Amino acid sequence: MDMKMFVSSRRVKKWQFVQIFASCFILSLMVFWSPFDSHIVSHMKSYSYRYLINSYDFVSDRLSVNRSLEDTPSFQYLINHEEKCHSQDVLLLLFIKSAPENYERRSAIRKTWGNEEIVRFQLNAHIKTLFALGTPSNPLTSEQLQRKLVREDEMYGDIIQQDFTDSFYNLTLKLLLQFNWAKTFCPHAKFLMTADDDIFVHTPNLVEYLQSLAQIGVQDFWIGYVHRGAPPIRDKKSKYFVSYEMYPWPAYPDYTSGSAYVVSSDVAAKVYEASQTLNSSLYIDDVFMGICANKMGIVPQHHVFFSGEGKTLYHPCIYDKMMTSHGHVQDLEKLWKDATDPKVKSVSKGLLGQIYCRLIRIALLCKLRYMSTYPCRAAFV
Ligand SMILES: *[C@@H]1O[C@H](CO)[C@@H](O)[C@H](O)[C@H]1NC(C)=O
Ligand SMILES: *[C@@H]1O[C@H](CO)[C@@H](O)[C@H](O)[C@H]1NC(C)=O
Ligand SMILES: *[C@@H]1O[C@H](CO)[C@@H](O)[C@H](O)[C@H]1NC(C)=O
Repeated sequence: MDMKMFVSSRRVKKWQFVQIFASCFILSLMVFWSPFDSHIVSHMKSYSYRYLINSYDFVSDRLSVNRSLEDTPSFQYLINHEEKCHSQDVLLLLFIKSAPENYERRSAIRKTWGNEEIVRFQLNAHIKTLFALGTPSNPLTSEQLQRKLVREDEMYGDIIQQDFTDSFYNLTLKLLLQFNWAKTFCPHAKFLMTADDDIFVHTPNLVEYLQSLAQIGVQDFWIGYVHRGAPPIRDKKSKYFVSYEMYPWPAYPDYTSGSAYVVSSDVAAKVYEASQTLNSSLYIDDVFMGICANKMGIVPQHHVFFSGEGKTLYHPCIYDKMMTSHGHVQDLEKLWKDATDPKVKSVSKGLLGQIYCRLIRIALLCKLRYMSTYPCRAAFV
């Protein structure tokens, strides 16, 4: 027994030694390589940073603001539907971030994955779809575009718009709009999702999954494509450039790609609460959401069939499992038709079907590719 303890304590020491050695190695890399601030080095730095620190409390401390009522950014609703969620059991409140000029994209989404009726009739669940918009950014055409938007909304009743300019650098304002709307007009929705308008969401798969989670009363739920230890981009030419003044640390807290993620209602409420206490000048909306969630002690879970940046592989055995896929504008309606075809389910039916689809998924997902949508391990779930 003594002998055994001796051995295991020696093992622990050896393990600790490896850990200390690895930390020193990483630290020396951080010190000596810092002049070569290339992409790979900044990822290595941020990744090791993430493992060396255990808490990002200092981030939310530094970004805290004492807001008085008058400097809380608040924008008027130009188009709103306060009654949208009234007296209904809402499973999912679905926000789609869209720009005023993207009529075609909204139109395709209304016919496909954002369609409330399809979900109600096929899956017996209530979802509420809303397009979140700011105001047209081009002053020359803005009046005309705004009139078109109002007419579009009279037709479909699914647009909410606030009085801020719709632009990339105002995405955090759009985030606040969504969480604020959810808290004010739809706090009873069991889940909240936010998605881009060039995304494909396999709503039937997602709703089925959320229904099973709602049944067990899941809480603290936040799922999507998780960015772990992502570094802020310091290249001034990049769209995602973030200054040291805005965010001085080498890594962001873990967050889900803003292209599509889902949170449970308790998380939505907490994120809203935190957003009211933090400096919202950080315009990368998904990072800002990550900082809010981190402040409330909520951690994201990675779902292997949320795609982040990548495009799905076109095969029924993938459609059977997929949740989201990025970059669909032209082929959205075709993909919807193929991916929700009843034949998809029959392909993977029975033991043979399961074996067949498992092999297909291994073949498709596990070969080395420069860009991949879903990871190899997604073939095994
Ligand atoms: C915010 O207010 C609290 C007390 O109300 C104070 O202790 C704190 O220093 C203030 N923080 C800032 C950044 O002004
Ligand atoms: C964000 O919206 C505000 C309010 O409309 C506007 O003043 C500001 O210029 C916008 N910012 C950007 C970068 O478009
Ligand atoms: C928020 O942060 C920006 C820098 O990113 C700073 O200029 C601004 O003064 C801060 N706002 C508040 C209210 O602290």
